[in-house]
Amino acid sequence: MRTQVGIVGAGPAGLLLSHLLAGHGIESVVLESRSRGYVEQRVRAGVLEHNTIELLREAGVGKRMDAEGMVHEGIELRFGGQGHRIPMTELTGRTIMVYGQQEIVKDLIRARLDAGGQVLFDAEVTGVDGLDTDRPVIRYGDGRTLECDVVAGCDGFWGVTRQAIPDGVLTVAERVYPFGWLGILAEVAPSTDELIYAAHDRGFMLHSMRSPTLTRLYLQVAPDEDIGHWPDERIWEELDQRVATDEGFDLAHGPIVEKAVTPMRSFVAEPMSYGRLYLAGDAAHIVPPTGAKGMNLAINDVRVLTEALAAWYGSGDRELLEAYSGTCLRRVWRCTHFSWWMTAMLHRFPDEGEGGFDRRLQLAQLEYVTTSKAAATSLAENYVGLERV
Ligand code: FAD
Ligand code: PHB
Repeated sequence: MRTQVGIVGAGPAGLLLSHLLAGHGIESVVLESRSRGYVEQRVRAGVLEHNTIELLREAGVGKRMDAEGMVHEGIELRFGGQGHRIPMTELTGRTIMVYGQQEIVKDLIRARLDAGGQVLFDAEVTGVDGLDTDRPVIRYGDGRTLECDVVAGCDGFWGVTRQAIPDGVLTVAERVYPFGWLGILAEVAPSTDELIYAAHDRGFMLHSMRSPTLTRLYLQVAPDEDIGHWPDERIWEELDQRVATDEGFDLAHGPIVEKAVTPMRSFVAEPMSYGRLYLAGDAAHIVPPTGAKGMNLAINDVRVLTEALAAWYGSGDRELLEAYSGTCLRRVWRCTHFSWWMTAMLHRFPDEGEGGFDRRLQLAQLEYVTTSKAAATSLAENYVGLERV
């Protein structure tokens, strides 16, 4: 089989890239190791920043998002028994949307298949050859091959495309955090209209949502926490304690329909390209979810890559392709800093120093961002998403 752009991975990055390329008349094939049912049900990100919302609309895949997504104008930071609202829209003029990643994945798969696009499920990529030639070949399934002009590595952190880059080419910057998130989805109406990020003495918790009848909640736990130690009652007890306020707060409980533990890391591999391979999304960089940036970064990468490939196919001009890695990495590093900063401010760390030094700094920082307009605006403009670069 042969195509112009061979895309590895049918997550948000790979699917959106295929869709955007088709808009420029560029042909692609998406190879995905999992089944369609699996990728459409995988519960992950939930917050779309302003640029992501606009891009999905411009690309003609924003209809269901606009009908079912929940527009948010602020978030709450909760600590010391009090809630403090960051009025993001008042401070920045921008809004965010709460709309599940798997809903975007469903919308994109439908759009590709309706347009006659090729998305092959249950097609695991085992290797990529000839990246330093002009005819790279992707190996997948039981001995099948896909020949292409360019390979887009959109196969997430554990994928194979980054591994296909020869040793010594990539510089990797990484931080592994001493905790993870236990995430649940519960069939119950959200307890507030907005997200709550709570920095409790017992550890961080987050109240989010997916719809008027589905609540998404997270608890800071050990990175290797055994989910077997968390029966539903223990999860609710811990959530109740961490979300509590001095005034009293009732967290609505309901049947838990999904639970999983995710460890947390920051990771950036540079450059994001090698020969005819371009990495995008989690394949090149990971952020802890505290800033809600991972999927938004993945989507920005493929926007930049589409423009570069369109210029190259259109006029042979390689300038944007050569700038691809540097262009993406400026945003990646800004978001890496923001995600690290939010994570550091909101979680309990095992070693907080003499007299709880680090904890005192966290509380001082929280007080500052919730009382200074300048500091709140800085948080808000990062959260809703900085201008496109
Ligand atoms: P992925 O979604 O990982 O897609 C990669 C695809 O490649 C997968 O479908 C995988 O099956 C496939 N694949 C892997 N290996 C192969 C192979 N060998 N052959 C073929 N296919 C392969 N981000 C946000 O922006 N906002 C949030 O609120 C947010 N919350 C999060 C909460 C949690 C609990 C987690 C875990 C993540 C969260 N993120 C969030 C991050 C976000 O989910 C990721 O950044 C996003 O999924 C990246 O998209 P991607 O397309 O690059 O990679
Ligand atoms: C989510 O709804 O899954 C979510 C929201 C905000 C985050 C991370 C995850 O920072």
